[in-house]
Amino acid sequence: MVLYDAQNKTYSLHTKNTTYQMTVWDYHILLHAYYGPRLEGEDLSYLLRCKDRGFSPNPNEAGGNRTFSLDTFPQEYSTCGVGDFRLPSIELELPNGSRTADLRYVSAAIRKGKYSLEGLPAFYGNEEEWETLSILLRDAAAQVEVELLYGVLEEYDLITRAVRVKNTGTETVRLCRCASLCLDFVHSDLDMITFNGAHVMERCPSRVPLHPGIQGVDSVRGASSHQHNPFVVLCGHEANEDYGLCYGAMLLYSGNFQAMAEVDQFTNSRLVMGLNPYQFSWTLEPGMAFTAPEAAMVCSPSGFGQMSRLFHRAIRRDLIRDPWAGRRKPVLINHWEATEMYFTADRLVEIAQDAPKLGLELFVMDDGWFGARNDDNAGLGDWYVNEEKLPGGLEALVARIKDLGMEFGIWIEPEMVNEDSDLYRAHPDWALNVPGRKPSRSRNQLVLDFSRAEIRDHIYSQIKKALSSADISYVKWDMNRSLTEVWSAELPPERQGEVYHRYVLGVYDFAERLRRDFPDILIEGCCGGGGRFDGGMLYYTPQIWCSDNTDAVDRLHIQYGTSFCYPVSTMGAHVSAVPNTVTSRITPMETRGVVAMHGTFGYEMDLSKCTPDEKETIRRQTAFFKEHYDLIQDGDYYRLSDPFQNGSYTAWEHVSHDRREALVSLVTGSFRSAPPFLTLRIKGLEAKLRYRINGEGSWLGAVLMQVGWPLPIILGDYQALQLYLEAE
Ligand code: GLA
Repeated sequence: MVLYDAQNKTYSLHTKNTTYQMTVWDYHILLHAYYGPRLEGEDLSYLLRCKDRGFSPNPNEAGGNRTFSLDTFPQEYSTCGVGDFRLPSIELELPNGSRTADLRYVSAAIRKGKYSLEGLPAFYGNEEEWETLSILLRDAAAQVEVELLYGVLEEYDLITRAVRVKNTGTETVRLCRCASLCLDFVHSDLDMITFNGAHVMERCPSRVPLHPGIQGVDSVRGASSHQHNPFVVLCGHEANEDYGLCYGAMLLYSGNFQAMAEVDQFTNSRLVMGLNPYQFSWTLEPGMAFTAPEAAMVCSPSGFGQMSRLFHRAIRRDLIRDPWAGRRKPVLINHWEATEMYFTADRLVEIAQDAPKLGLELFVMDDGWFGARNDDNAGLGDWYVNEEKLPGGLEALVARIKDLGMEFGIWIEPEMVNEDSDLYRAHPDWALNVPGRKPSRSRNQLVLDFSRAEIRDHIYSQIKKALSSADISYVKWDMNRSLTEVWSAELPPERQGEVYHRYVLGVYDFAERLRRDFPDILIEGCCGGGGRFDGGMLYYTPQIWCSDNTDAVDRLHIQYGTSFCYPVSTMGAHVSAVPNTVTSRITPMETRGVVAMHGTFGYEMDLSKCTPDEKETIRRQTAFFKEHYDLIQDGDYYRLSDPFQNGSYTAWEHVSHDRREALVSLVTGSFRSAPPFLTLRIKGLEAKLRYRINGEGSWLGAVLMQVGWPLPIILGDYQALQLYLEAE
């Protein structure tokens, strides 16, 4: 519910459990008053304090009033160069070379439904559930208008934000910075949690108290990156899974981003999140507008668990688009770890042969099927079938796989090119590069300039042809390097600051076309595993390969971190062979299955080499997963332990919406002799209901939640246990 209080000039965004308030202050300056647990009918601007502070300037209109300063008030959307010395949200370069921005409130509009952003991913939803507040600000000297957009999804305590900047003057203006979210607090008693890592070890949480100065994470790699995820949490020092105030902020963007927090001289704090200003500028000719990507916030007064569950529900329902929002996804088998690029059609059929009997429904042909792709030196850019490997083309192979009783999926990496390819020989200038420099290689490949429509069109037409040549129901879209030598031949020197962002817009355009032309194809995003795991890609690709690391023990950590924002139904997770290709670790097959069920679930191994026992395990696992599909993929998710803190076990839980069913999964750590007796407290149950556990015995929900379940002592390392709870 969005309310305007005309007397106090406040706008309040109420969700089920939270309130967000801003106020139009003196001289039409929009200040941020409050974000936290729901409070009704109160003007919270009493929290704004006027005080004469040394070296904090006063706007000219304030005359002799030395207590009014942009430098000390919490701002709704921070400006720059006009008196607030903290993190700016926007920076404008005017024709005279000045770089300032001074925004004043003009008007606002409240309407039903959710705004959308052309060419950019955004939450969507119906008129009954969403409301939009649009606030118009204006910089009179620059003749620029800034529209702050807020989407309110009351039921899930979700507030989205986006920003549109329009040049309403007669001269060209340059936008040098344009964040999506600015969130000020009148204190700094907060910790910041960021999700960091590297290729094969993504999204490991790191929690530190905010301290004076600027801190945060970003990406300058052209993708959102393995190194830092565009999702951060601010929380009270005491906050934990089940208790305490926390704020989650996600950016729906797949390129260079920045999420910075600052603690100022008076211990106020500010979070600014959005496009990374690194090498960014955008030329706005008269009449032109720029839209910054969407950010989404959830405030949970009761810990991280609730925050995550709200993000999960909103992402599953209002970010993932039809037909995949509610559709059941197939259990897949991918041959990548079994063969890499060294395969033939016969070899693939051999791997797939027994798959349907084991409950697998989709066979995915990974990298290596096109051009001269026999290793990673060649072939990218040539999206036609390598007939030496696949005689008769895709049609023949797909027919053989379908005859076995499975659907067929395929791997692509549209943004990339090898120098050894027909495409590069014909168009060497299509790869990103700076004139006079030699382009850096990474995995022996270069990046195509996806900011250019003609290049995207060319790649798209090849891929469309391949996808139309056979009955294909799944695509894995990969991206296996970061961007370097970023310069586009299509843009003049003064517009080169647009290339990074135009590249991402190009990726979104390509993805949207794919979705439009092949609505029934399930697209799985991938970037060397989870290097582009963000809310932006999820709008186009309903699942994303979580990591190139399929080791069950490492995956416990990666999936734990990922779950803070993203639902289980979006995390690509497979059972692979042991010793693991990344870690050489050997874990039991049971455990690998339980861990992969913390995701979209599939297999990545050579089934023709599995023993009868292993095959029987696979059959059991797929049957179990399918039986509990809705509970696992759509249920509420609870983290029961933190693998970074607890070496004894990692446990998590899925609870059905009616709380009558739950599945607890647990994996032990490396075994230590004389272990303690441990009790696992189960969460999210109905206190008064009695639950049967694995069909034996029954206990009261209140008892299982408050006292817990005595864990058996399991010998051996990395053993798995699952408890299925059903209300009587
Ligand atoms: C990336 C992906 C892998 C696989 C290879 C193929 O690394 O993450 O799953 O598809 O590329 O080259």
